[in-house]
Amino acid sequence: MDRIRIVGGAALNGSIPISGAKNAALPLMIASLLSDEPLTLENVPRLADISSLLRILQNHGVDYKIDGKKPGDAQTAGRTLHLHARDIVDTTAPYELVSKMRASFWVVAPLLARMGEAKVSLPGGCAIGTRPVDLLLMALESLGASIDIEAGYVIAKAPKGLRGAEIDFPKVTVGGTHVTLMAAALARGHTVIHNAAREPEIVDLADCLVKMGAKIRGAGASTIEIEGVPRLGGARHAVLPDRIEAGTYAMAVAMTGGDVLLEGARPELLQSALDALTASGAEITSTNEGIRVRRNGAGISPVDVSTAPFPGFPTDLQAQFMALMTRAKGVSRITETIFENRFMHVQELARFGAKIRLDGDAAIVTGVETLKGAPVMATDLRASVSLVIAALAAEGETIVHRVYHLDRGFEHLEQKLVACGARVERLAGQG
Ligand code: EPZ
Repeated sequence: MDRIRIVGGAALNGSIPISGAKNAALPLMIASLLSDEPLTLENVPRLADISSLLRILQNHGVDYKIDGKKPGDAQTAGRTLHLHARDIVDTTAPYELVSKMRASFWVVAPLLARMGEAKVSLPGGCAIGTRPVDLLLMALESLGASIDIEAGYVIAKAPKGLRGAEIDFPKVTVGGTHVTLMAAALARGHTVIHNAAREPEIVDLADCLVKMGAKIRGAGASTIEIEGVPRLGGARHAVLPDRIEAGTYAMAVAMTGGDVLLEGARPELLQSALDALTASGAEITSTNEGIRVRRNGAGISPVDVSTAPFPGFPTDLQAQFMALMTRAKGVSRITETIFENRFMHVQELARFGAKIRLDGDAAIVTGVETLKGAPVMATDLRASVSLVIAALAAEGETIVHRVYHLDRGFEHLEQKLVACGARVERLAGQG
């Protein structure tokens, strides 16, 4: 397994191109199953999760092609992916594939809506919490599907097709909203989603579905209305920029000091995180090219944050912000309200000398003057990158083990940081 070696202490200066959003690309790719015509997605990031999903889609019969690099394209330019689900050859998504990545469970919706049946492995537990799928199944049942669970598989059937319904989520769920959008797009009649997730990735999926011929109103608000259509066609759609990647690098700059342009980042996609960074002492400006983040020699101020569904502070930036707060001049309280167990980074941050105490769903961080490099272990995607942020500011050398977690969601991480002056290298092999 690869490791990453980081020697801390260098400020970050330069530009970082922001990739297409993993969490938008995944549901968009799954939406290709809804139509027998081709779906072309631009700005798709090169990530392990994208490759895993391609294997799953291929298993259902989706043909795909990735455009080669054109002369003059930057190494980091997003790729164009052509997906064509002309014939669905298999409506089963097996355990071996689904267990690698939770979002792949979402194939249940287009398979059911288009083919009238789907057999999809339950995704199982994951490091950040239990993450059940009960609300996704509730939505599909409301749309007229029968749901059985047998030997770890969800067997969903709707031989006469799905029908529109009123769905009121008791809790905001991104996956539940994606699944309902896809299923209701091909259901007979009218669907209303109450308490829908408002994340930008929901809007991106809805925009693409509308290009494919779906009738959707209100995506981005908490009530979404969908008028089902008998079939969907092909489309071309560019994946929106990754707000979590942008927020992560913004926090890295706030941590190390320096001046970095996050090329292509859109401030409206991560305003709550940018507000927290501003309160911590970073200077954030929007330009035509993206978001510019600066912090001069002044110290980092402590800021309390509490995660919440969009437009609140994203849970996917909680670990990174905690890394920043480990060097603040004072005490901050970071509350996690979305996932019950998303604090695995706390113990690893402690290895740098960070002072963090857990208090129920909150972490109390007492800033320290200096962090010291250490061997640390990546546990999940966002937790791992919080260790990279700590390492960039720590004295001496850090080795991050289990880097495959980072490869799931951060494209060209080392190259992007090195281009801004960080001392980061990948060590191939054992670890
Ligand atoms: C999406 O996961 C993201 N994944 C996550 O990013 C992100 O952390 C999360 O949304 C919250 O923003 C993708 O987009 C691929 P949820 P999702 O359904 O859809 C509970 C990353 O690092 N819940 O919004 O699975 C659930 O347990 C990942 O990129 C139920 O109780 O999250 C959680 O507490 C990690 N029953 C809350 O709702 C259900 O049926 C929100 O989960 C579904 C969810």
